This record gives sequence, structure tokens and C-alpha cells, in this order.
Amino acid sequence: MSSIREQIESFGTWITRFDVEGVESGGTYDPSSDQRVCRFIAELRMYKLQSSNGDRPLRILECGSFEGAQTAMLAQAFPHAQIIAVDVRQDSIRKAKFLHSLRTITNIQYLQDDLDNPQFVFAETYDVIFCVGLLYHLRDPARFLARACAAAPFLWVWSLVCTEAEAVVSENGYRGRMLAETPDHPLSGIGSKSFIPTISSLADMLWNAGYQTIELLEKVMTTNGNGPALLLQAQRGSSSFRTT
Ligand SMILES: C[S@@+](CC[C@H](N)C(=O)[O-])C[C@H]1O[C@@H](n2cnc3c(N)ncnc32)[C@H](O)[C@@H]1O
Repeated sequence: MSSIREQIESFGTWITRFDVEGVESGGTYDPSSDQRVCRFIAELRMYKLQSSNGDRPLRILECGSFEGAQTAMLAQAFPHAQIIAVDVRQDSIRKAKFLHSLRTITNIQYLQDDLDNPQFVFAETYDVIFCVGLLYHLRDPARFLARACAAAPFLWVWSLVCTEAEAVVSENGYRGRMLAETPDHPLSGIGSKSFIPTISSLADMLWNAGYQTIELLEKVMTTNGNGPALLLQAQRGSSSFRTT
């Protein structure tokens, strides 16, 4: 039986940082104070408290779960919920499973699927979809959003968007730009390029998908110069799950 350290090393290079027996391990990425996640958790907690059937266990779909660091935050914040963590990369899913076994987290179901051409994930329904850092890696974000809206009434998104000045591509009436992907990198999309819409086209995509309430929560410039990014929440009906 190999030691925990040997097991960690057997997965190759990690991007996520985590503690094992009090020792820092893995890479440098630590989302434990990431407001894109913490804010979602706070909003969903309030919503559950105020909801008439708030005792019912939630089904939360996480799209683009990577090495599982944000997944663990969701699973620990909502121990009675079922978290369905989807990623296209089997290697990342294996790492996530290992990380969660170290922390004895048991309320996560893992699914390998391509969210541009999903086989399994949208055959089921969910209470809410958490989608941070995935949308701008898809070739057809409008098609993904339509499927997401059919599968869950609430959607939480953080994504890069294209500035109006950089919008040189028009696809199906949506304006934006192409992002050259690096499929060999575990944080990347899997095709050679993806489509990043402008804010206005992203709003149209959400609306056309069937979301009737779209709330823009934050617009920030990313520190790596990849452009502006949005945090938003969308809902099928006319009210928000946000309470503040
Ligand atoms: C930029 S990372 C974001 C990871 C994590 N959500 C975060 O914010 O830390 C994008 C993730 O989406 C996954 N991904 C990219 N394209 C995908 C696709 N077509 N279907 C499913 N997952 C995909 C990648 O493998 C990667 O884990």
C-alpha cells in the first residue's frame, strides 16, 4: 500500500493546492476564498432557508469541475445536497475523486461528459447549475445554455466576455470572438477554438435559452489580461433565488 504522498505524486502535476496531514501539497490554486463560489453558497443558503420546501435535498450540477476544489466547497457547504460534478477530462475527475476521498466527502457524483456535445448530463434535472470558468471554453455556448435552462431553473455563471471593440465574429446572430484553445492543457477547452460572446449577445443567448430573469452581479477585468469577466445569475421564472 503506497503512502498518501506517493499516491498524490502518482497523479502527476496538480494545479490545485491542498493540505495533507497539515502539509501543503499539490499546486498553487486555492479557491477557498473565491467570491464566485462563496457568494453562490451564501445566496443558495438564504434561498434554502426561505424556501417552503427548503428541507428537500438539493441537486447541484457543477459544470467544468476540474480537480474538484470548488466541488469540495459546494459539497461541504451543502452536506445534504447531491453535487453532480461534470468535466470532460478523466484525469481531472480522477484527481477530484482522490482529493474528496482525502477529505471524506461522500455527496459528490462524478460524470465525464463533453458539455458541448453532452451524452448524459442533461438527461437529468437539477435544482441549480453552477458554471464557473466553463462557458467561454465551449464552441457553442448558446446550445449549452438552452440545455442548461431545460435541465434546471437556476443558473450561476462566471465567464469571460468579449468587449464590443473586439467583436469580429458573428454566429447565428451572436457577436463575439474566437478563443484559441490549448487542448493539451487541463484548464482549457477540448476543441481548437471556442466562442466568447459580448455581454449583449450573452444576454440574448440566455434569453433565447428560456431564462426570464437575468441579473448581472459583477463585471471585473481579469488579472491575466484575458479581458472582462461577468458573474451573473439567471432564472427561468420571473423572480430570483438571490435574496439581497
Ligand atoms: C478554466 S477551468 C475551470 C475550473 C473550475 N470550474 C474553476 O473555476 O476553478 C475549465 C474546466 O472546464 C473543463 N472543460 C472544458 N471544456 C469542457 C467541455 N466541453 N465539457 C466539459 N468540461 C469542459 C476543463 O476540463 C476544466 O476542468
